[in-house]
Amino acid sequence: MKKAIRPLVMGNWKMNPLTTAEAKQILSTITKGTKRADLVDVVIAPPDIYLETASKLVKATVFLGAQTVSQFRDVGAHTSETSLAMLQQFGVSHIILGHSERRALGTTDEEVVQKMQAVLAGRGVAVVCVGERERDEVGEYFSFVEAQLKAVLTTVPQTKLKNLVIAYEPIWAIGTGNTATAADVYEMKLFIQKVIADTIGRAAAKKIRIIYGGSVKAKNADELLAVGEVDGFLVGGASLQPEEFISIVNSAQLYAKE
Ligand code: PGA
Repeated sequence: MKKAIRPLVMGNWKMNPLTTAEAKQILSTITKGTKRADLVDVVIAPPDIYLETASKLVKATVFLGAQTVSQFRDVGAHTSETSLAMLQQFGVSHIILGHSERRALGTTDEEVVQKMQAVLAGRGVAVVCVGERERDEVGEYFSFVEAQLKAVLTTVPQTKLKNLVIAYEPIWAIGTGNTATAADVYEMKLFIQKVIADTIGRAAAKKIRIIYGGSVKAKNADELLAVGEVDGFLVGGASLQPEEFISIVNSAQLYAKE
């Protein structure tokens, strides 16, 4: 039986690799290695500077993503900004929004909402990151995640729910090797679904994909899918290692088939 929701595995290359030559090599290996994963949406989000090169390498099976986008939709006096329409020239479809590394540099919930609206209005897929800085014993972190979620859920157009993805990324698990346990991830997935259902309805909770990010590797992907029941992953470090990333995509492909 195929899963009702198609898994999404998105690689966030962050500010890597150093050269175009390396970017080409990693991307072509990933493209070849994932071409049979027909039940998974595979996305790579390189630095914008590599998009033109990347657009010539990816085949129909790999989507391109960006790590953020401007909230401004039209060309104009917005120094250092890049609009969705500019990214779309290179085939970019999925945009990461509100990554904790951007939030740490000042991106606010309000900006995340404006960017999400720009992405959804322009027919892109918005991958909105939420996640707590640390966990406390009394469970305050649930309220923190709830507030981040509510900011986007109260403003998302109902007709665009299919193009919204929530990435749960506990900050303490990003780039640290400290993956949240599959049980922690499952608990948070249920919580996110509940917040979605309470805020915009049960039907909506079924449409929005919930993925996990934070030290996802080939060796923990199966368990995070089976026990965590997430609809895929946002992968940082391991997306620069083609074998690791391909193996994570294969795990999602098997999970989708179950
Ligand atoms: P990581 O990063 O996989 O290196 O922990 C995840 C992310 O920041 O999206």
